Amino acid sequence: MIVGGNNFVRSLFLMLAVTLLLSLSAGTGYAQTGEEIFSRKCVSCHTIGGGDLVGPDLLGITEKRDREWLIKVIVDPDSFLDDPIRQENIAKYGVKMPDLGLSEEEAVKIIEFLSQFAAQPSEVTPEETPEVPLGDPEIGRALFIGEIRFANGGPPCVACHSVRSAGINGGTLANDLSDLYARLGDRGIYGALKSLQFPVMKDVYAGKELTEEEVANLAAFFKEASEMNRAKSDIYPLSGIILFLVAIGVATVYFRRVG
Ligand code: HEC
Ligand code: HEC
Repeated sequence: MIVGGNNFVRSLFLMLAVTLLLSLSAGTGYAQTGEEIFSRKCVSCHTIGGGDLVGPDLLGITEKRDREWLIKVIVDPDSFLDDPIRQENIAKYGVKMPDLGLSEEEAVKIIEFLSQFAAQPSEVTPEETPEVPLGDPEIGRALFIGEIRFANGGPPCVACHSVRSAGINGGTLANDLSDLYARLGDRGIYGALKSLQFPVMKDVYAGKELTEEEVANLAAFFKEASEMNRAKSDIYPLSGIILFLVAIGVATVYFRRVG
């Protein structure tokens, strides 16, 4: 009997130990508060009262949108891209809200956290826009094409992206980033590079985040590429007109000869 009792206590301990281990090893996903999830997954693209970054400022968002809509945009943003609010936001911010693989339960926690920050325009003083450090565009270019390796071991961007305005023809898995800076601006591009929370990339760069310095250098490179892109599109219409005139000239000469 005594032995049996010991066994019972022992297995109780064992069960406790296993439960503890399991809950520890469940790691990141385990019992986080809305605030913790927000500061891990959202702050690179959203502020609460600090102005727009990659995505909109979320101050007062729980008053602006209904709960079901918010859950949907956080849990499964790709499922309703034709929604008019989404279309307006995607056009305005130039990128889509990424699917971050969150559960509905996590979304509810985040929404509860966000609902503490109701919009009170008279009292809210948005923080100063942080100065965005821009680095060396040449180093940014070298990082992009893999001439210089990323400190934390992430693959070079050129594996999947081109920047044709800067003469870089890379992989075709993802889109050309020539106009990235024009679409996102200083703050947006900084947030986007810090988080890299886009499809495919978020897995490829998990645990291999770019350093502050790398982000600054890449941002400077994208800025330069965007300027070249604009310069080119200013030239295109002009060269189109010249070609048209030349064609008319050639045609005139040709028909005169024939006729
Ligand atoms: C890589 C950048 C990025 C990350 C990370 C990100 N978002 Fe977004 N989010 C956006 C962009 C861009 C939009 C606007 C375009 C759209 O709707 O697709 C948006 C839209 C939203 C909207 C709708 C805003 C409105 O005005 O209707 C909510 C709510 C939102 N995000 C919440 C979150 C939460 C919560 C997280 C973290 C779990 C998060 N986002 C992470 C970029 C991001
Ligand atoms: C393994 C392939 C891969 C690598 C490597 C990669 N990306 Fe991406 N990237 C993607 C995919 C896929 C998307 C989402 C689809 C798309 O927008 O084309 C994406 C999207 C993006 C976006 C949002 C695009 C937009 O125009 O809306 C940015 C910004 C971006 N990547 C920057 C980078 C940078 C900077 C690097 C290097 C540090 C990099 N990517 C490396 C695959 C990759």
